[in-house]
Amino acid sequence: MENRRPHMKPRIFSGMQPTGALHIGNYLGALRNWAEIQYDYEPIFCIVDQHAITVPQDPKALRESCEQVAALYLAAGLDPKQSAVFVQSQIPAHVELAWIFTCTVPFGWLNRMTQFKAKALEADASQDSVGTGLFLYPVLMAADILLYQAKAVPVGDDQSQHMELTRNIAQRFNKLYGKTFIVPETKLPTVGARIMGLDDPTKKMSKSTDSPNHSISLLDPPGRVKKLIGRAVTDSQPAVNWAEPGAGVANLLTIFQAFSDWTDSQMQSHFAGMRYGALKSEVSEMISAKLEPIQRRYNELMDDRTHLRAVLRDSAERVAPIAAETVRRAKERTGLYSA
Ligand code: TYM
Repeated sequence: MENRRPHMKPRIFSGMQPTGALHIGNYLGALRNWAEIQYDYEPIFCIVDQHAITVPQDPKALRESCEQVAALYLAAGLDPKQSAVFVQSQIPAHVELAWIFTCTVPFGWLNRMTQFKAKALEADASQDSVGTGLFLYPVLMAADILLYQAKAVPVGDDQSQHMELTRNIAQRFNKLYGKTFIVPETKLPTVGARIMGLDDPTKKMSKSTDSPNHSISLLDPPGRVKKLIGRAVTDSQPAVNWAEPGAGVANLLTIFQAFSDWTDSQMQSHFAGMRYGALKSEVSEMISAKLEPIQRRYNELMDDRTHLRAVLRDSAERVAPIAAETVRRAKERTGLYSA
């Protein structure tokens, strides 16, 4: 089904897992970009709870986390009049299409996914308690995107391999059954596509790390931001070596630039040669200044659950017909029975 909507803006789709508080990597790599570009597209944003249960979750916390992430989406600037914001499990078409894809994706393609290997190791070294869902995770992600015939997917850099698989699945299905899916592009932010861990700048900032000094949550108060940035790993130089900053310093500079929107030359003239103590206070002040309005709106939104739930429900109703039409086509193409 090619995009036969010549007067309409191209559709984008993206999502986040509702597992714990979002961190500044999620924000700078994805969410901020979504809010910025939403008016140029027909945007659909999902809270992917079915992805979250690929590893064990506390049921009550997971349900609450869906509403927290919805509130963060809106607090970060998603406009529900423009952007659909819904929870994945509200639309059964995601798993229906995922099953059809599961039957067309070669095992070897999934076996090559590096995130599965890393996560499976994290979950259980013996792999006996690793759910099969974790292995099939990228197939569900492909279904999320292809279900809505999205033209582009705004994500951080860590999703590149999953995006490549999504494109391969679309192409394979189109080849086997005739053109059915739009092959989507990956849309990375210019700055902040990969924010690194504060305690270890060789690893990307992630939610599933036990270290207390690893990441900054979007809900962290200024005091905690200051403490975490203060403890961030730098290197043995005393001041910013602009030509060759160490990985930790480069990460702090990226965080500042992504939050501030400063140009490269503004960054260079301000930060080159600056001592690390001063750099760290500027970075933590910038982060807190940008997080403050998000946190204020987040608290308001969480105090009005009726509104929040209405947004999730209305959005699901809005996108359900698109999903249903794609599933109908995919079933027809594959020969699944319909009377
Ligand atoms: P998730 O929930 O891990 O992350 C959500 C988004 O945040 C980005 N991100 C980062 N960006 C920069 N630096 C970081 N350190 C960083 N950490 C995370 C991610 O790239 C992502 O854009 N598989 C997805 C969820 C998903 C999805 C989809 C995404 C399911 N279906 C369909 C797009 C389209 C994931 O686990 O994201």
